[in-house]
Amino acid sequence: MSKKVTVRDIMKKKGSEKIAAITAYDYTTTKIVDQAGVDIILVGDSVGMVVHGLPSTLPVSMDMMLLHVESAARAKPRALLVGDMPFLSYEASVEDAVYNAGLMLKKGAEAVKIEGGAEMADVIKAMVRAGIPVMGHIGLTPQRYLVLGGYRRRGVKASEVERIVEDAREIEKAGVFAIVIEFTAADVAAEITKQVSVPTICIGSGWMCDGQILVLHDVLGLSESTPPFAKKYADLRGAILSAVSEYVREVKAGLFPGREHSFFSEAYNRGGE
Ligand code: KIV
Repeated sequence: MSKKVTVRDIMKKKGSEKIAAITAYDYTTTKIVDQAGVDIILVGDSVGMVVHGLPSTLPVSMDMMLLHVESAARAKPRALLVGDMPFLSYEASVEDAVYNAGLMLKKGAEAVKIEGGAEMADVIKAMVRAGIPVMGHIGLTPQRYLVLGGYRRRGVKASEVERIVEDAREIEKAGVFAIVIEFTAADVAAEITKQVSVPTICIGSGWMCDGQILVLHDVLGLSESTPPFAKKYADLRGAILSAVSEYVREVKAGLFPGREHSFFSEAYNRGGE
């Protein structure tokens, strides 16, 4: 078995090896993506949308996240397991934030991720002081889509660029071990990657970053709608549809189950079978 990936291992990859990260939300998929060799598995709050069918990540609760983190952790992945802090679990007070992040670790996460820039510096510092590794998340922060005016590209206008770069520097100073940069202009993500000493892990922010992350359901072709930056590596929606349609057809036609999927009583067997 290869060596467990730690936060320090992730930090050491900056400038030497690209980091491959993906989301997973349960025991089975965590086992599979871990076997595929990812470095980081994020139990993302995207679970609310892709698994629970919610319209955004805002209704995702700590209880939901803890259940999914616990399930994923049972797979004992080699990859670093990161739990995503849901909306309102870390914004209201530093005390709440540290307590809720601690609960993630108690369920098996090895780090947490929070959305936000400079305004989250105190929260990040307090978590790190409490022994909780923190991954930052800047650029498009979906939990703030209402104030951002939707799920829109970030870092196109100069004023926004300055703010995003500043956010990266501030959360680095506060102590994050890596920074997710979402849906931000590629040159801006590249500039941040140059300016900060911690790895940048991008989603929809170009290739000039230290690593990439995608939502598992987008990669597998399971999502109902996929963001423009995601790449579909399989068509599991099609595969499931055809497998289950075939099952339905065989049940209706009396073809399943056959003798090979059945067994008989002793009396029946004595009767010649
Ligand atoms: O919840 C999530 O899946 C995420 C990734 C998109 C980074 O935050």
